[in-house]
Amino acid sequence: TIKACLFDLDGVIVDTAIYHYKAWRRLANSLGFDFTEHDNEKLKGVSRVRSLELILSWGGVSKTTEEQELLATQKNEWYVEMISHMTPAEILPGAKQFVEDCRAAGLKTALGSASKNSMTILEKINMVNLFDAIIDGTKVSKAKPDPEVFLKGAEELGVKPEECVVFEDAIAGIEAAIAGGMKSVGIGSPDVLGKANLVVSGLSEMTLDKLEDVGK
Ligand code: G6P
Ligand code: MG
Repeated sequence: TIKACLFDLDGVIVDTAIYHYKAWRRLANSLGFDFTEHDNEKLKGVSRVRSLELILSWGGVSKTTEEQELLATQKNEWYVEMISHMTPAEILPGAKQFVEDCRAAGLKTALGSASKNSMTILEKINMVNLFDAIIDGTKVSKAKPDPEVFLKGAEELGVKPEECVVFEDAIAGIEAAIAGGMKSVGIGSPDVLGKANLVVSGLSEMTLDKLEDVGK
């Protein structure tokens, strides 16, 4: 039986992908090149350091480790400025309701995100108190598809991996759930997230009945 739901943040609870894209694009432009929204898909669920490596490779630009640190810091300053204006209106449709439904049904809830800015965002959208555990980029050393972020969540909640369902919009996140021995629900397109036990277009489509089916 399912005892807990673990939620990714970017692309599942809020759509911050557009802010990450704007900030990375500004950085790329400052280095003399550009990249598309299509390329940006490859950055979803990917850590800050790894995202920069990918973007630099797209632009054919090479930088030393020290330079890369400065560039990642610059991008994050722009990103933090943008998310500082976020409000609860930016919660994705149905997301808050479904997390509340889970809690009302006696399930535990956790956040499992690669972002070091998770707490800032949860505070801005007023959802800090809806999670029994918050595992973010400041608490993990191995990025998705490594299951570390979700296994730590299960541990903090005191449940077994097989009692958890992970909600993810990134293929790396679904792979992390599978590697951790958990069930998963993909948020997005079945073409991309076909490995998940169920795919829905958003949490507004999710119900406790569907969750029960995933647990069977
Ligand atoms: C999430 C996003 C990625 C982002 C990563 C790190 O996984 O989907 O686009 O790069 O978090 O976020 P941060 O806020 O720490 O730079
Ligand atoms: Mg995501």
